[in-house]
Amino acid sequence: MKKIELKTQITIFDSIEELPTIVKGLMDKAIEAKQNAYAPYSKFKVGAAFLLDDGTIITGNNQENAAYPSGMCAERVAIWKVSSDFPHKKILKLAISASSSSQILKEPVAPCGACRQTLSEYEIKQKEKIEVYFMGEEGEIIKSDSVLDLLPIAFDKTFL
Ligand code: THU
Repeated sequence: MKKIELKTQITIFDSIEELPTIVKGLMDKAIEAKQNAYAPYSKFKVGAAFLLDDGTIITGNNQENAAYPSGMCAERVAIWKVSSDFPHKKILKLAISASSSSQILKEPVAPCGACRQTLSEYEIKQKEKIEVYFMGEEGEIIKSDSVLDLLPIAFDKTFL
């Protein structure tokens, strides 16, 4: 028997103003995309924006459904737009922002587990890390250098 310590590293930015210009622009797009979220049930809106290697920005937002499990998170709406329209372009960065109708979210809102799994597929496929930046409505932003840093001991195609 042995115990292994897993370590990960994140960077914390104090506010959107502290982000590098390109990332601030990307986060602005995620915030803009959030406005179009269809979230009548949770009233929790999420926007996601991907920056591709040719400068293209692709956005998405959460889409809910009266049959609750048929809804979809913003990150997966956006990544599938990327993969279906630009399957050969590399993804450089992802920015995520969330807002709730019941409170002002001042802490970074992390992508859910299913989104991390989905995103990891494309990071592995492109063999290059995707930087992930996430925030609430205001306040600090967390940056992870890679999707896999957010998903230790991941399930991947090597098991199939
Ligand atoms: N949601 C996202 O869009 N991304 C996440 O990573 C977590 C949750 C959405 C799904 C649902 O529409 C609402 O937020 C509440 O869970």
